[in-house]
Amino acid sequence: MKFVSVLCALALLAIAAVPCGAAEPGGLAWWQKTIVYQIYPKSFADTTGSGTGDLAGITARLDHLKELGVGAVWLTPVYPSPMVDNGYDIADYTAIDPSYGTMADFDRLVAEAKKRGIRIVMDLVFNHSSDAHPWFTESKKDRTNTRADWYVWRDAKPDGSAPTNWRSIFGGSAWTWCEERGQYYLHTFAPQQPDLNWENPDLRRALYDAARFWLDKGVGGFRVDAITYIKKPAVFADGVPDGKDGMAGIHAMTANQPGILDFLREFRREVRAGRDIFTVGEANGVGPDDLKDWVGEHGVFDMVFEFSHLDLACSGGVWCQPRDWKLTELKRALMATQRATQNSGWCPVFFENHDQPRSVDHFFPEGADPRRSAKVLAAVLLTLRGTPFIYQGEEIGLPNYPWRSVDELNDIQSHGQYEFALKEGFSPEQALAFVRAFSRDNARTPMLWDEGANAGFTTGTPWLPVHADDTALNAAAQTRDPKSVLNWCRQLSCLRREREELTAGACEELLPESEELFAFARVLENRRVVTVANFSLSAVSLPQEICSGCKLLLSSEDEPREAELAPLEARIYATEM
Ligand code: NOJ
Repeated sequence: MKFVSVLCALALLAIAAVPCGAAEPGGLAWWQKTIVYQIYPKSFADTTGSGTGDLAGITARLDHLKELGVGAVWLTPVYPSPMVDNGYDIADYTAIDPSYGTMADFDRLVAEAKKRGIRIVMDLVFNHSSDAHPWFTESKKDRTNTRADWYVWRDAKPDGSAPTNWRSIFGGSAWTWCEERGQYYLHTFAPQQPDLNWENPDLRRALYDAARFWLDKGVGGFRVDAITYIKKPAVFADGVPDGKDGMAGIHAMTANQPGILDFLREFRREVRAGRDIFTVGEANGVGPDDLKDWVGEHGVFDMVFEFSHLDLACSGGVWCQPRDWKLTELKRALMATQRATQNSGWCPVFFENHDQPRSVDHFFPEGADPRRSAKVLAAVLLTLRGTPFIYQGEEIGLPNYPWRSVDELNDIQSHGQYEFALKEGFSPEQALAFVRAFSRDNARTPMLWDEGANAGFTTGTPWLPVHADDTALNAAAQTRDPKSVLNWCRQLSCLRREREELTAGACEELLPESEELFAFARVLENRRVVTVANFSLSAVSLPQEICSGCKLLLSSEDEPREAELAPLEARIYATEM
């Protein structure tokens, strides 16, 4: 505490009441200066006892977000859905699923969030709909109806088999036969998620209209799902099999095809242009070298999620097989995005989302204390150049859930990966080990709020197991503990608002060859803020040159040593101002 500015120290004691000394960095948009918080509504807060979260629960918890300095909340889908993929299978793009509440609840959420300076950001799932969407019900009837061409239909091969050997992302063929229409339809994900045909202008118009429906409600922007798959290849051909099933993963066959940017330029014109919002695309298959076309002056989105830093812990395949990796690989991946956007463009900084395992279990050596690890990652997350995206529970350092069996998991992808690993010849124990480490349900277990039943998440039976809270991880306990992960995040958030270097400054990597320290400087004019984070389980001496003449602003240690970082310690220095 003694290293934090007076304003931040006060803010920590009475966070809701005391604003940070906010800098006004010139030239940056609101979404570049703020922090985005991602909510998985089903697991956030339940007000009805149903066991699943709802919109009223989010409204009730808005002060938690305000105290964290959040300016925008990305809601994963809350639209009507059969929930095969927990809402990423949408049956109506302009309504609310009854399990989450009503449109009035949504309007209330937007209004209450606005009072706290928070904007609501919707998830647009435009690569596919649900097979229960009326568009699909019509499209599948025959080859001549008004929506016949709104999905991707193809004839069978002469032997009756699927048009290509593509494997869907959730496992199994990417084609499903439709008896009614006598054709196959394509689905990048589950059979219940048929891909939309973006070549059809009427379909595209209907999607833009849906986006504008939410803009009229005052939302602050969109996260755009699976967007790199919307353009299909000109020719549909078999790929080289990458598994014993003789199939080729669809990602390699269809991601980021030539021509996709034309669609996205139209999307930008129709949905984004002239509005004070942001768009962030989920851009699997877009690497740092492609970013110039996707973000920045000539880009199609304000930001895109680029995944190379998350992917490095897995070796290929449909499931994720853990591989050893080094800190220098993580740094190279993150810094490649930083460099690619240094002069033009902007990206999110993120370590978690609803599709990833918890970061404290992903980025550190075995045996690392999760509380210390969470602080190290938060320091990097909140000080790198870009907009930090905090995923619910990350701010309290939630770890993966100790799954005992595959039956405990709900996630469609985890089940697909488990089955596929078995088919590839792995034992049930090995298949379960992959799934335990990488299941998306690790991120989807309920948020821990307090010491009440089910950690305050629900009075009913939670839809996924709730973590045993034997180390007082819950948000209420962490609010009371000045040394908690949550209060560390609040301090960092405060610092980010106070120090213009942390938003507007350039990013310079330091010590790139170190396998223990992740260090970088944020530089604005003659001012520097330097982050040094020790990712190792050993004490590491601090190179003198890291920030000579600088003052220590924050350390995750109670009593930091001058010339040495403790294991899993993070520090922030700055030149005097
Ligand atoms: C990406 C989403 O983040 C994931 O949760 C979903 O399953 C797929 N897209 C399909 O929409």
